[in-house]
Amino acid sequence: MAEKTKLSTDAYKGVRDFYPEDMFIQNYIFGVWKKTVEQFGYQEYNASVLEPTELYKAKSGEEIVNEQTYSFKDRGDRDVTLRPEMTPTVARLVAAKRRELGFPLRWYSIPNLFRYEQPQRGRLREHWQLNVDIFGVESSDAEVEGITVASKIMKNFGASETDFEIRINSRKIINFILTDIFKLDEAAAHRLSKLIDRKEKMPAADFEAQSQQILGEQTKLFLNIISSKSGDDLEKITGKQRSEIPGLDDLHSAMKKLNASGVKNVVFSPTLMRGFDYYTGIVFEIFDTNPENRRALFGGGRYDDLLAIFGNERVPAFGFGMGDVTIRDFLETHALLPKYQPSTQLYLCSFDEKSLAFSVSLADRLRESGINVAMDLSGKKISDQIKSAGKQKIPFIAVIGEDEMKTGIFKIKNMDSGEEKAVNENEIKAVIHTKK
Ligand code: HAM
Repeated sequence: MAEKTKLSTDAYKGVRDFYPEDMFIQNYIFGVWKKTVEQFGYQEYNASVLEPTELYKAKSGEEIVNEQTYSFKDRGDRDVTLRPEMTPTVARLVAAKRRELGFPLRWYSIPNLFRYEQPQRGRLREHWQLNVDIFGVESSDAEVEGITVASKIMKNFGASETDFEIRINSRKIINFILTDIFKLDEAAAHRLSKLIDRKEKMPAADFEAQSQQILGEQTKLFLNIISSKSGDDLEKITGKQRSEIPGLDDLHSAMKKLNASGVKNVVFSPTLMRGFDYYTGIVFEIFDTNPENRRALFGGGRYDDLLAIFGNERVPAFGFGMGDVTIRDFLETHALLPKYQPSTQLYLCSFDEKSLAFSVSLADRLRESGINVAMDLSGKKISDQIKSAGKQKIPFIAVIGEDEMKTGIFKIKNMDSGEEKAVNENEIKAVIHTKK
């Protein structure tokens, strides 16, 4: 007889299972996201996880398309990809109904995305990502609003401005440095921009050596330029006026407006690239300032040309993507995660068939009054029933026995404090609502 094989209980590599305590955190994160973006007037949309592969070929960038997508052929021989990001999808949706939609259009979504990455802290193969995008605004007022939303989300999670830093740059400035200052051809400019994108992840000496291969004796000037701390620095080092550096005025005005509206932790970061090829202007990234978790949390940028791939006129666009994995790590590191509370508020334990039947109708009435009630159906000893409520972290229990059925008085026990309150049916709700 064939040997019985035991199936593994492990999840597929790089994806997560969500037990109720994880769902609680997930729902908390999504709740803060939704509440904040809706306050700013963003409307929710969604789409399928499946997209035609060609959608990503045009603009996402080689790394993501060639190395990181889950792509396959369907039974009809079509090339299909599990969406690795939402921006091409939202661009497709907006382009399809461009004439009917009202601009500026503010949209958000919380899709799950799939990337074939080497799983590590902050990087998995499936994550959920809040996407917040504004379409139809040419000026950097879109950036000011988008970055304000990002900052507000962080504050609504309980973070203070010293807990994170908003790094900002412009693709226009980078392009100017690569093609006007260093006169690089397209291939060399592409290599150097990818190198800049990896700068934070490599030793300084390696970065310098690889820059040398592309720039030769101009390397020193390049290293000076990318160490600029402000637009003024950049002007001095390059010997150019602000008006001669494309994107710098815009960046400066966005930073000023953010500062004036109370977002003070914005810093100019000339090496901030962001991976995708579709960004055309300002890019930004939020960094954790805690030494234990110094990393990028999320980011975005302007992508004015992406909608044109659908054959329409261009539609200016700016937005960002904020992942659930990195934000959860951030909240953990900064002790900002809420304590788990199941949605069940009250657990009824019954001695026997008769008290269980009584519990069934009591539970029914309590649910009508707005309390979430579960009953133990195991028929086990009362002490085991109470233990089970404890394992499930249900905050209140009541044991239903002869006395309770006769008197209509129930002892509602707070499982945290051990305190018991004897109340009648109508008073149960008030006892339960003492706990937030
Ligand atoms: P992205 O930088 O690739 O941008 O992803 C945005 C955020 O999603 C990251 O900063 C991180 O929080 C999270 N994230 C990305 N990949 C993973 C992963 N493998 N595991 C866990 N979290 C991850 C974009 O996707 C752009 N489409 C965002 C955007 C929207 N730009 C404009 N609008």
